Amino acid sequence: MERTLIIVKPDAVQRGLVGEVLRRLEQRGLRFVGLKLMRVDRELAERHYAEHRGKPFYEDLLAFITSGPVVVGVVEGPRAIEITRRTMGKTDPAQAEPGTIRGDLALTIGQNVIHGSDSPEKAAYEIGLFFREDELVSYERAIDRWIMG
Ligand code: RTP
Ligand code: MG
Repeated sequence: MERTLIIVKPDAVQRGLVGEVLRRLEQRGLRFVGLKLMRVDRELAERHYAEHRGKPFYEDLLAFITSGPVVVGVVEGPRAIEITRRTMGKTDPAQAEPGTIRGDLALTIGQNVIHGSDSPEKAAYEIGLFFREDELVSYERAIDRWIMG
């Protein structure tokens, strides 16, 4: 079982796509164990995107992620990190397959609707950035035996 962090980015919140994005992850079978709406400040954005510091798009990325409220969540399931990334589609929506979140809902790399952690190490780090331990809820759904065995 894995956990991963997702962020429904400011563009998706402004466009009224929160439900649509969460629906796709939920219908995939993933289980939400944490979920909240918040505004990301500059300090949190710098920590979250530390790996991109110094890149040409870094300042635009920070401006974007702090530009309005986001919805952050933690989802859980077998191979949740890879499954979430593939459900999101490629970073650049022009390359994202139809049927993926970005392939269906986005046009540009700077406004690509959703973030998902890309490795177990990053997932643990990012979950810790956005959620306290007592904000995450462990539980089972009656249907889970038909979804995750
Ligand atoms: P994310 O972190 O948001 O889930 O996206 P990702 O892993 O698919 O892509 P990553 O390489 O981590 O880049 C983070 C975000 O930075 C913006 N970006 N712009 N202009 C560019 O070349 C460029 N490259 C990346 C994107 O918004 C990307 O989601
Ligand atoms: Mg990334």
